[in-house]
Amino acid sequence: MIKEAFERIFGAAPETVARAPGRVNLIGEHTDYNQGFVLPAAIDRYVWFAGRRRADRRVRLRSLDFQEGVEFDLDEPERDGQHRWSNYVRGVAKCLEEDGHRLPGADVVFGGDVPQEAGLSSSAAVEVAAAAFWQSLAGLKLDAVYLVRLARRAENEFVGVPCGIMDQFVSALGRPDHALFVDCGDLSYRHVPLRNDVKIVVCNSGVKRALAKSEYEVRVEQCREAVAQVSRLGRAVNSLREVGLEDLEAARGRLGNLVMRRARHVITENQRVLDAVKVLQAGDLNRFGELMNASHESLRSDYEVSSRELDTLVEIARQQPGVLGARMTGAGFGGCTVNLVRQDAALAFARAVEEGYQRALGLRAETYVFRASGGALTSEVLGVRC
Ligand code: GLA
Repeated sequence: MIKEAFERIFGAAPETVARAPGRVNLIGEHTDYNQGFVLPAAIDRYVWFAGRRRADRRVRLRSLDFQEGVEFDLDEPERDGQHRWSNYVRGVAKCLEEDGHRLPGADVVFGGDVPQEAGLSSSAAVEVAAAAFWQSLAGLKLDAVYLVRLARRAENEFVGVPCGIMDQFVSALGRPDHALFVDCGDLSYRHVPLRNDVKIVVCNSGVKRALAKSEYEVRVEQCREAVAQVSRLGRAVNSLREVGLEDLEAARGRLGNLVMRRARHVITENQRVLDAVKVLQAGDLNRFGELMNASHESLRSDYEVSSRELDTLVEIARQQPGVLGARMTGAGFGGCTVNLVRQDAALAFARAVEEGYQRALGLRAETYVFRASGGALTSEVLGVRC
């Protein structure tokens, strides 16, 4: 489809096609920017790019989802306040050029089926797919973790969102039927197999994450504050990764109740991720589900990033047969919940949550049964002949 769209718009076949998936985080929320642990999976929804080189340094970029086009120059990829969707692509191009990779001008089309503004990382998918696309078009050989860091840098510095590294990481490095454990401190990672008798069911609250950006920044700042206060007690620490609950207790007077609770979420969540990886490997999915439930409680009461809609979805989910665990996923304040459900119960589960949500709040929830998918790929690997 992306090839056909390109041909229709630019009147010639593309030279390169690339794709990258969205993601759902199974556990490990708001830990990545604290150098902690995460366990997301890439989902089988993708952003696709197709393009061909031009002789000059112009980029003609067309978004299928927004039905709009822009043009920019690789010598000055300015931020575009009007066509914000283009900034993810501009930012990636700018970062690559800053690092000394000379890119050719290009005609480019992109679009996909990752739900937008749902907390499933459609923006990270655009960034990672863009990086994979440029890599292929310019014939670069980039290390995968370098590409991940570059995509995040584009979001932090160019788009202006202070996100952590989780979304780009799993969009680039996910593996089919596996979750991805990432140590966001040293960026080491490991794939953990998911059993095929359980399904990842995601429920979209339909609520756009209105507060997400500003409140996210507040949380990042509160975590910094906790680190600074603990350091003042004598033991210099660089992140909450290095802080234990006993350190928090010792610093209670300096931290105040609010910052104390924020830090407590991060510290306990890191431990939950480590436990979750262990029990997943041991095949104890009941315990895995309990850890997901505990994660939600901590996000709701200590980190305060849940919402009435997300709590309602989680409550309804937990009453259904076959559910092992239910929690909000992503930054919070709207977006989705993630549920681990026995395979034979997954479809009935999805219907029941939709109905229950409609009954409780009069709102429509969209549900998806995802399969853990592979990370970013280009035409060479996808077997797409251009
Ligand atoms: C957003 C950010 C991620 C991560 C999550 C919360 O998705 O982009 O880096 O911080 O929120 O876990």
